[in-house]
Amino acid sequence: MIIVLDFGSQYNQLITRRIREIGVYSELHPHHLSAEEIKKRKVKGIVFSGGPKSVYDEGAYRCDEKIFDLGIPILGICYGMQLIAHRFGGEVRPLPSREYGKTEIFCQRKTALFEHTPEKQIVWMSHGDVISRLPEGFSADAVSENGITAAISDEKRRIFAVQFHPEVSHSEYGLQILENFARHICGCGKNWTMDRFIDEEAERIRETVGDKRVLCALSGGVDSSVTAALVHKAVGDQLVCLFVDHGLLRKGEAEQVMRTFRDRFSVDVRMVDAKERFLRRLKGVTDPERKRKIIGEEFIRVFEDEVGRMGDIPFLAQGTLYSDWIESGTETSASIKSHHNVGGLPKNLNFSLLEPLKSLFKDEVRLLGKKLGLPDEIVWRQPFPGPGLAIRVLGEVTEEKLELVRETDAILREEIKKAGLDREIWQYFTVLPEIRTVGVMGDQRTYDYTVAIRAVTSVDGMTADWAKIPWHVLEKISTRLVNEVKRVNRVVYDITSKPPATIEWE
Ligand code: XMP
Repeated sequence: MIIVLDFGSQYNQLITRRIREIGVYSELHPHHLSAEEIKKRKVKGIVFSGGPKSVYDEGAYRCDEKIFDLGIPILGICYGMQLIAHRFGGEVRPLPSREYGKTEIFCQRKTALFEHTPEKQIVWMSHGDVISRLPEGFSADAVSENGITAAISDEKRRIFAVQFHPEVSHSEYGLQILENFARHICGCGKNWTMDRFIDEEAERIRETVGDKRVLCALSGGVDSSVTAALVHKAVGDQLVCLFVDHGLLRKGEAEQVMRTFRDRFSVDVRMVDAKERFLRRLKGVTDPERKRKIIGEEFIRVFEDEVGRMGDIPFLAQGTLYSDWIESGTETSASIKSHHNVGGLPKNLNFSLLEPLKSLFKDEVRLLGKKLGLPDEIVWRQPFPGPGLAIRVLGEVTEEKLELVRETDAILREEIKKAGLDREIWQYFTVLPEIRTVGVMGDQRTYDYTVAIRAVTSVDGMTADWAKIPWHVLEKISTRLVNEVKRVNRVVYDITSKPPATIEWE
């Protein structure tokens, strides 16, 4: 295994991800992970990530000094390289202006790190500090077109460092460099594959669970669906799934989940029709935060009622991903997601948790879902908020308004898919503001609803750009919405990014 120590770079998860792509298992850990901890695991290599600070800054991140005595190969990237240089007595200085973007480097000394790469290559630079004097025992292996030290090493101590970012795809031979480090310098085998993951994880689940039953709350989203499919592969009929239909789902969603799990996988899925319960509690409520709160509370109540009826189930399987774990686990990362807990499960239930996806990234979960035979509609499902359509019907939630959002959303989804944009747009949906406007249809005056289209591109939902959907696609959507959904006479397109707006309207 290769451990990546996180010094706060925006690319830190990407390093881990890329090493896994090579077929070597890798984990990201906070920069202060102790040498003791590292010794306990089967670690064959350590990567120091980049980071936003300068090594001379007050509070600059450091690692446990004893790591350098472990004899495990180290690869420093960007800040990681400066940290190494500083630690071994070299000198780091600020540049008059940052070196940023695609840059050509010249490899003047070919160490094992640069095997199978040409002398001249394009790499991705993003740094404001530079090594101005090499530490003792180190050699300069590459230099950038701007005359900046781009790679150093002390081969005796097996410490290598690069100023550029091999994990970023703009670095032409970045993957090769990471592979050289992980496989040839650290001696890791190429044995991290999804098939192997499935076998090992299924075995682990079987061992943990024995002959006991496991509950999984299905939401229809990718994570809970893949969790259910994996647990089902491991323990078959011992899995019971609970699917709460709160009436705030998209068109066809409940049916599709049931079709997939009950019919295709023969999973025991208990569907709870709680539509009336939720609508009753939402009656007359217009404040967005109140709506979220009510839905969250009601969800927990329904869940508790059902679990009470199910008899003894000691295990609860949850679709926690690696990124969820990292976001709460390392304080170094600059971007900490604000956690939405609506639709979350009660915390005080007496379950032992199974979290079989805890070591996977979202795209790995999608790949796993595909391997387990889940349909594309589930594997590639866009993120959907726990409170569902209730926060896309602005103001009071009524059955009529829900129906309008549901129908318009279904048409929008169909057209986006037809236009082949469904994988590149992060989220796309319709919103029903409390606006009615005058229109004319045939010879008749209308006074009906306005529907807004919201479509954004994003990497993680933290920030987002409004999607530049081609005019002709928007035109088709607009025409269909007005023609096919009664009481809609106007369509508007939301052209705000996040920030300052949020993705959802409430
Ligand atoms: P905002 O609207 O805050 O949304 O820009 C960011 C992402 O989070 C989703 N979202 C939620 N997800 N429960 C959830 O599970 C919620 O209460 C919730 N609110 C927003 C939103 O769809 C987007 O992907």
